[in-house]
Amino acid sequence: MIVRSSRPEDLEMPLEGFNQWITPVDQFFVRCHTYTPEPPNLGEWRLKLDGVVNQPVTLTIDDLKKMRRVEMVAVMECAGNGRSFYQPRVAGTQWAFGSVGNARWAGVRFRDVLEKAGLKDSAQHILFDGADVPLGKMPKFQRTIPVKKAIDPDTLLAYEMNGQPLSIEHGFPLRMIVPGWASDSWTKWLEHIEVLDHEFEGFWMKTAYRHPTHPVEPGAAVDPKEMVPVTDLNVKSVIASPVAGWIKPGRVRISGTAWSNTSPVARVDVSVDGGSTWKPAKLGPSKLRKVESQYAWRLWQLDWQVAEGQYTLRARATNEAGQTQPLTEEWNPSGYLWNVAQRVDVEVTTKEMINIPIESRPPAQPPGYQSACLTCHDEGMMVQQQLTPAQWDREVNKMTGWGAPLKPEDRDAILKYLASQFKP
Ligand code: HEC
Repeated sequence: MIVRSSRPEDLEMPLEGFNQWITPVDQFFVRCHTYTPEPPNLGEWRLKLDGVVNQPVTLTIDDLKKMRRVEMVAVMECAGNGRSFYQPRVAGTQWAFGSVGNARWAGVRFRDVLEKAGLKDSAQHILFDGADVPLGKMPKFQRTIPVKKAIDPDTLLAYEMNGQPLSIEHGFPLRMIVPGWASDSWTKWLEHIEVLDHEFEGFWMKTAYRHPTHPVEPGAAVDPKEMVPVTDLNVKSVIASPVAGWIKPGRVRISGTAWSNTSPVARVDVSVDGGSTWKPAKLGPSKLRKVESQYAWRLWQLDWQVAEGQYTLRARATNEAGQTQPLTEEWNPSGYLWNVAQRVDVEVTTKEMINIPIESRPPAQPPGYQSACLTCHDEGMMVQQQLTPAQWDREVNKMTGWGAPLKPEDRDAILKYLASQFKP
């Protein structure tokens, strides 16, 4: 895995992962806003469902396992996947391609659980809360889903991933499965569900995970009134092979995966001339045995006979609703839902080439940096950012707001260090 941050854990699947249909659990990306909680004792664990319902209910894991079991293969993708490609850069976990995976989930329909409690007419949104504990003064990670999506028959509470109980990184003992939607709605470590008769005001709904309703100038500030919650994924493809660099002439197989939102992938087109001309790729099967896989990703491939020269490969997926991948960036302030058709530059040559890694030595850290900035997380959180001095200033304010014990006399030197080390 590519470690974007070791604590809290943010782990990305490398490109090779896009060669397989089911993503193994140990290669499946991990995104945590907080430290991973201790696994609960299953005998003591309970799921509570209350709020504007006729009858609050409390369920054990055995109660859930006795209910009708549903299996589904579905893609889970982080809303911030691809953030590192946005220009200008935006703060946040600097994912490249791999904060996405395709797993076989098993559990129960959320609507079957809801039926036990009985929804009141005033119900509007449903709050899903996990066992994670916020760091410092950071707001608790709580997300809501509108009733309409929550009662969709494909919205599940899952206790299994790829035939095994969920691992703790993936939400043991129970997590949300909201196929077609970004994984900020796929709450892990579920223990409490509350039905609300109003919109939720918490930070992770009202401030974070929002994007503009209309195109904006790259780098522009956007009026919060013109931002809406991130819901549906964008249609998207990844080229897993060949990777950028050099390849030998002859027959080359171009391959990868493609996925979408609630509208399935209809086609993938591939270009070897940077996007001037396109050829349809062959799509892999959309069903595996009898497991529902409308939300699964599709493997695709195209064989290419190539002579020496420079080429730019691109892949572009289109879904049944006719949505397709843009060829140029549509910027947004938090860097969500990147789906620009990927570019892979290859040089086709008979020469032997090798890559030599460049080593660099980090400079000394300024006084107070260790205690102010490297207690909740390590420097991996900073190294991946490439921010301007003004963006670093905002990050430092955000972190002191969350409880970073920064001494005023250390602030300037720390800012200077961050802005010179981790710049665009
Ligand atoms: C009280 C704990 C705490 C301290 C101390 C702290 N941070 Fe953070 N920081 C966090 C958490 C939690 C996250 C991750 C939030 C997430 O993943 O959503 C984070 C994320 C970040 C990010 C990623 C971008 C973002 O906004 O999510 C940067 C950059 C960052 N911190 C910089 C700093 C700097 C610089 C300092 C020192 C001034 C600092 N942090 C001190 C808790 C802390």
